Amino acid sequence: MSVFNQGSPHSTFDRCERIDILLPAGEFEIMSFELPELPYSYDALEPHIDALTMEIHHTKHHNAYTNNLNAAIEGTDMSGKSIEDLLANHCDNNAVRNNGGGYWNHCQYWEVMSPSSGGSPSGALASAIDASFGSFEEFKTAFHKAAMTRFGSGWAWLGIRESGLCVCSSPNQDNPLMDGYCIPILGIDVWEHAYYKKYGPGRASYIEAWWNVVDWKEVSRRYADGQ
Ligand SMILES: [Fe+2]
Repeated sequence: MSVFNQGSPHSTFDRCERIDILLPAGEFEIMSFELPELPYSYDALEPHIDALTMEIHHTKHHNAYTNNLNAAIEGTDMSGKSIEDLLANHCDNNAVRNNGGGYWNHCQYWEVMSPSSGGSPSGALASAIDASFGSFEEFKTAFHKAAMTRFGSGWAWLGIRESGLCVCSSPNQDNPLMDGYCIPILGIDVWEHAYYKKYGPGRASYIEAWWNVVDWKEVSRRYADGQ
């Protein structure tokens, strides 16, 4: 059973909200999902992730997933459901799986990165990483391996399981919310569109650079939220 069934308190993303219309009766009608604004400028993650990649990634790729998700659910009984509900219970629909996953995955990707970040986690998250992986460096090695060995396009994740933290990966725009494997709190996009303009086929170089923009405060918030 997924931990993200409708009504779950484990809503890990705040900015990916739908456009709600205030009706005369005072009730909100959920109309559609909305492409979120980035919390920083396109060039803010330079030199680690280049501005052109960020702009195309956001305005073309994420925008397409958002529009295609809205088109897939419009006029169906899926309209009005939360993104977590769609991912947990409606991924037998390929359009919802691919575009709903693409919508949620990219929302979290923008949020777990920020300028002037990097370094290492602290507090409860740091303790949990040490307990589950042995050390922060051993966690990074496991995460890097998961990201590198994901054949083709996909994502690598740090997530919460009952037994502790885990590292896993998923193909295409799948994520662990779809099968309830874990509550993802940090995910890296390893589709070539995330890095090819700057790094060419050098996925490893992109992953190494990406650590410099991981916002551990945000990841810690997600960790606390998912407990
Ligand atoms: Fe992407």
